Amino acid sequence: MDVYEAVRSRRAVRAFSDEPVPREVLERVLATAARAPSSGNLQPWHVYVVAGGPLAELKRRATARALAGDPGDEREYPMYPAELVPPYLDRFSAAAAQRYEALGIERDDPGRPMKVAALNTEAFGAPVVLFCYLDRTMGPGQWGDAGMYLQTVMLLLRAEGLHSCPQVMWTMYRRTVSRAVGADDGLVLFCGVSAGFEKEDAPLLRTGRASIGETVSFVGA
Ligand SMILES: Cc1cc2nc3c(=O)[nH]c(=O)nc-3n(C[C@H](O)[C@H](O)[C@H](O)COP(=O)(O)O)c2cc1C
Repeated sequence: MDVYEAVRSRRAVRAFSDEPVPREVLERVLATAARAPSSGNLQPWHVYVVAGGPLAELKRRATARALAGDPGDEREYPMYPAELVPPYLDRFSAAAAQRYEALGIERDDPGRPMKVAALNTEAFGAPVVLFCYLDRTMGPGQWGDAGMYLQTVMLLLRAEGLHSCPQVMWTMYRRTVSRAVGADDGLVLFCGVSAGFEKEDAPLLRTGRASIGETVSFVGA
């Protein structure tokens, strides 16, 4: 698979089969993703790869919290700006509407937040989740590095025939996650990335993108 194909075919998949992902595949992906760039080569990420019994137990604990309507642990970083302004607000709303439709959750369903949280804590059925942490001392530059790293991981998963879903939602239950993986207080959870094979009959969700005229300015190019 060439890099264009990997980028085009990557999407947030929210229905995984329970087919396990071999450990050697994960090792190959993560060893290669380590080539991702980082400012000053700090490589500021730390990843916990969770599968099998420990993941089943984590899903059980986190889903119990989600279904109980638990509002989650105090946030360590805001998921979004306090005030989301256009055009970001419009993009957010459009993607959310598409996502809920694909998940079969009605727009005016009062149980929607709980149902969405519980689907996330089930990792959408994925057999493995990669939890990406950063050292608490790291700043915005290093968070950017972690984003580049995770995109590299997700593209390499495509090259292995696998799909993924990055999930900030896990940060709502970050204490449960940190206890499960053994992360200490010096680390901040950025997000989880669920990974696995896509379920065969999963609805295809292809989110839109702004045109490059909206997001790119060529200057002298
Ligand atoms: C850092 C990050 C966190 C995300 N968190 C979630 C999440 O908690 N749950 C979810 O279903 N999707 C999550 N997504 C997926 C986005 O909704 C998705 O990438 C976006 O709508 C574009 O769709 P696409 O990736 O399918 O092209 C996240 C994506 C990123 C990059």
